[in-house]
Amino acid sequence: MVVDGLPTQLGYLGLGVSNLDAWKEYAANILGFEVLPPDDDGTVLLRMDEHNHRFILTEDARDDLILIGWEVADEQNLTALTERLDTSGITYREGNAETLKRRRVVRLIEFEDPNGIATEAYCGPMINRAQPFNSPRAISGFLANEQGLGHITMVVESLDACLHFYRDVLGFRMSDWIRPQPERGVESGLNLAFLHCNPRHHSMAFWQGEMLKRLHHFMVQSNELDDVCSTYYLCQQNDVAIDLSLGRHTNDKMLSFYMKSPSGFDVEYGWGAIEVDDSNWTVQLHTDGSSWGHLPAEPH
Ligand SMILES: [Fe+2]
Repeated sequence: MVVDGLPTQLGYLGLGVSNLDAWKEYAANILGFEVLPPDDDGTVLLRMDEHNHRFILTEDARDDLILIGWEVADEQNLTALTERLDTSGITYREGNAETLKRRRVVRLIEFEDPNGIATEAYCGPMINRAQPFNSPRAISGFLANEQGLGHITMVVESLDACLHFYRDVLGFRMSDWIRPQPERGVESGLNLAFLHCNPRHHSMAFWQGEMLKRLHHFMVQSNELDDVCSTYYLCQQNDVAIDLSLGRHTNDKMLSFYMKSPSGFDVEYGWGAIEVDDSNWTVQLHTDGSSWGHLPAEPH
């Protein structure tokens, strides 16, 4: 095992949501997640793979991302990560026994990302193989486990500050860029950087732009194309707003659509993305986000 202190996957997300009941219904009936019995403080955990949980929902008027959890391989790697934070002058603290219990991990540290988002790096997540993931919907499940829960795209003020922190300090690798090319007649508001920490094309993307919410969307990847299509129709039948129609992304080649969550930010539901092999990956520049589709929904 290499001890380099690099994150190995996007482990969990904390979402502060104003309507927990709406989220529980949406998570189970639309996304197809398992909703676990609430913790004693009212926190609701959502499950989508072998991990005990991937989403931590707390009642919070912000309706936005409030916590990111990055997994590292083991305690030696977590210590190596603390050394890199020390070298960069970034303060952190060890998670106390109460936090470890709530997160169901062996050890974690807490710090802040450049956008002010509470961030945790941890090792030893609780895995539940005795009771395999059992979606309340008739779907095949999600490509998660070693690739993490999926990806997130955050809206940020400064790509440079985010790249310094996530790439130079935490050790993420660049996947590619989507940038407007006005000198070539490509005018758009797309100015994004994509980073990976495992074969998933990106676990994190940053979109420099005007912020309504910090979280633009999180993405989960279905095992089967049918699950994306059936979820699309489920949204139509249940009046879940589809913000971007079915389409294929240029860079990770994900076939997906974007729906509005009960908190207003989007959820991308996708299938079929390429994987990155660090031994031969070279960074790319794209000017468009999609090869086809992903059209803004018609108002209805
Ligand atoms: Fe995405």
